[in-house]
Amino acid sequence: MGRDLRIAFIGAGGVNFGSPTKPWDHATRLEKLGGVTVVGVADPDMEKAQKALAERLAGPARKMYAGAKAYADERALLGEARPEAVLIGLPPTAHGQSRPPHDMEMLCAAAGIHMFIEKPLSVLGPSETADVAAAMEAAAQRGLVISVGYMFRYSRAVEKMRQILDDCPGGPRAVSLRFDCAYTDIHRTSWWDIRRSGGPILDQATHLCDLARMLCGEVDLPSVMAMQLNAAGPGGGLSHMPLGLDGRSVEQHVPGEFRLPMATSAIWRHEQGTLGSLLHGVLLHGWKNETELEIWGDGLRMVLSDPYHSCQLSVRYPNNQGGEVLSFTDDDPFRSEISAFLEAIRSGNRSLIRSGYADAMRSHEFAWAIRRSAEGARQHQHQPVTAEV
Ligand SMILES: NC(=O)c1ccc[n+]([C@@H]2O[C@H](COP(=O)([O-])OP(=O)(O)OC[C@H]3O[C@@H](n4cnc5c(N)ncnc54)[C@H](O)[C@@H]3O)[C@@H](O)[C@H]2O)c1
Repeated sequence: MGRDLRIAFIGAGGVNFGSPTKPWDHATRLEKLGGVTVVGVADPDMEKAQKALAERLAGPARKMYAGAKAYADERALLGEARPEAVLIGLPPTAHGQSRPPHDMEMLCAAAGIHMFIEKPLSVLGPSETADVAAAMEAAAQRGLVISVGYMFRYSRAVEKMRQILDDCPGGPRAVSLRFDCAYTDIHRTSWWDIRRSGGPILDQATHLCDLARMLCGEVDLPSVMAMQLNAAGPGGGLSHMPLGLDGRSVEQHVPGEFRLPMATSAIWRHEQGTLGSLLHGVLLHGWKNETELEIWGDGLRMVLSDPYHSCQLSVRYPNNQGGEVLSFTDDDPFRSEISAFLEAIRSGNRSLIRSGYADAMRSHEFAWAIRRSAEGARQHQHQPVTAEV
């Protein structure tokens, strides 16, 4: 395997270090994969960075973290710890831009550091971040590995869907995406403010939007039409709104027009003709989201369900009214994407990366097209949007 890669974590939150009910946790995958030395963890919440590091130093992979330091400033980390690669797990407002202090990717590109970047690429849209995309493209041309966290591209179930579609005459004809988020355990106030999280389409549905592009081809963006059910409009509001750390409703300080939509419905056409639709909700109770992607072809019906937890694929094949249900519960796409990232750096084979920056930007653009259309359609609701603080 050669010498260890020097890795740093930018952001000491849930995606990098895990959270109780969620399947993600890049640090644990790195520990299992090995061949890596962690040189630093940066988070402006220094206590959080120290705590994450202390927990790992007390864990089974302590050796991997023995030389690591916690930093409050990611610039200090880059200058002092000199990582070869970073895992960027930041709020969407804190990265993906060309100006300090939100220019993590630009700094890494200038320093020749490989990057694994969590989606969404930014809270801003593609036109406002075109300079970053151009810089990432140039960095990739110079040989940097840049991978974006659309992990379902590495799922065995999705690989199987692709194979089945290749054998299906005419390919996909219709795709339906469904994501209903369980909201009652989301206590982070920033998530409930569309200015800070980007909203549920950029943050959550983006994974399914990305798969729709991967399986059905590019979307004809002008065809996207969407509507949303607003928190502050008729039929809005939720019965079990969680409390933030201050003991008040997470929406307490969010003006009505910046609250998350309870539901979003969208339709579009892919360039090759396939019809697409999305239904996203922030409506379920508890912590487990319900996620499904369904594709219809000539004689074919495939339903991918619960890809985050107990992934299953039901298939009804052409010329066969029966079907089969395939289980992929032993598959871990989070591990596969990190493994591909490390392997691409070691081997220089960037084709192992299934979601590069430019491609991920197209999924971000698609998600933005849905959000923009849904927000435009908001004006057709009769109830005026209230703006309390
Ligand atoms: N691919 C997936 O399935 C998946 C899963 C979870 C999260 N995510 C994405 O990962 C990103 C991070 O999510 P999270 O759950 O870890 O959030 P989080 O809030 O738990 O953690 C983010 C951390 O970043 C820190 N931070 C803020 N500004 C910073 C800066 N400039 N430098 C360093 N640290 C900074 C915060 O203090 C916080 O500790 C989000 O964009 C989210 O959408 C992706």
